[in-house]
Amino acid sequence: MSIIAARLSRIKPSPSSMASQRARELRAAGRDIIGLTSGEPDFDTPPNVCDAVVRAMAASKTKYTDVGGTPELKAAIIAKFRRDNALAYAPNEVIVGSGGKQIIFNALMCTLEPGDEVIVPAPYWVSYPDIALLAEGWPVVVTCRPEDGFKLRPEALEQAITPRTRWLVLNAPNNPSGATYTHDELRALAGVLMRHPNVWIMTDDIYEHIRYDGRRFFTIAQVEPALKERTLTVNGVSKAYAMTGWRLGYGGAPAELVQAMTKLQSQSTSNACSISQAAAQEALNGPQGFVAERARIFQTRRENVVAAVNRIPGLRCHAPEGAFYVYASCAGIIGKTTPEGRVLGSDADFVIYLLESQNLALLQGEAYGLSPFVRISFAATMEMLEEGCRRLRLACEALR
Ligand SMILES: Cc1ncc(COP(=O)(O)O)c(C=O)c1O
Repeated sequence: MSIIAARLSRIKPSPSSMASQRARELRAAGRDIIGLTSGEPDFDTPPNVCDAVVRAMAASKTKYTDVGGTPELKAAIIAKFRRDNALAYAPNEVIVGSGGKQIIFNALMCTLEPGDEVIVPAPYWVSYPDIALLAEGWPVVVTCRPEDGFKLRPEALEQAITPRTRWLVLNAPNNPSGATYTHDELRALAGVLMRHPNVWIMTDDIYEHIRYDGRRFFTIAQVEPALKERTLTVNGVSKAYAMTGWRLGYGGAPAELVQAMTKLQSQSTSNACSISQAAAQEALNGPQGFVAERARIFQTRRENVVAAVNRIPGLRCHAPEGAFYVYASCAGIIGKTTPEGRVLGSDADFVIYLLESQNLALLQGEAYGLSPFVRISFAATMEMLEEGCRRLRLACEALR
């Protein structure tokens, strides 16, 4: 009998982490891999943050902290929510964890009873359904069509809600589609949610600051304040401040939920790293100008990648409104044959073909709940992106 518990069989390892690891391994083995799978900015953590860390270490901020975060970091988070989102949270309505991912994990573990449903619009970030399954919940995937800009329509939300619905997960700017919601679009979703008082909303705003074409950002509890009493607003420093490795995320929610999540965290990881908390405090309180500057750099890369992809036979993409991924349809290559005589039956086959024939690592749409697509991360240098697009074109041109 296996030592591994049955609950582990419900989930799979994160496809994006696995793909990035595989690209690193192949590179280490000497292959000239272009990896465009990464979910992290290629920029460095800002110098003011690194300086604050040195000061924190010198001041011996190296001990356990309160499980839910230091009072200083919580104050910075409260100020951030007020400044950027017009949301007022009290210290007992804020929790700090080891990444936004842990906040989401804590919330679903604390709230789902077996069989409770979690509405996950697709395409989705790979971890939502698996975390729901691990917590014995049931992900209800609602497909958001490319012709709707990959956005959840109010009618589709209404249809998906059942007496078992516990959560709706919203994520915008979206990983992988880049979709963002306007104020009116969120209002329309809020209208549906107001009719269903038992449904809670988990809004994952981690790409808040990576937006293009001057688009504004809104979060659901700001658009409909009446929903704040059943909303968990998730955010973190990973993407905006290029701090993925520091593992620092946070959430704002009603005190009862925050208290439960803190209790769970007290019996798992305890506090997030004390030094990372000092770093996040500086990131949130310090100068913010570079955040928009970096978004402008991402926007230039986006223009290049979108134009290059749309010139490739068999591929088609729209320009993402935020985040740093192009989600390209590869419907035009499905059914085609590789020079080795293999028929490409799915986006997963296509991704394997790209890795084998061109040493190009992308991620298959299957992992994000909507096929046939490939996700191309443009969190990479322009040279890498140009070379990646060149290899992608060569691979597609070689198909029959
Ligand atoms: C949509 C989304 N949410 C949450 C996360 C987790 O971020 P972290 O745990 O680094 O804060 C990611 C990371 O890729 C993401 O893409």
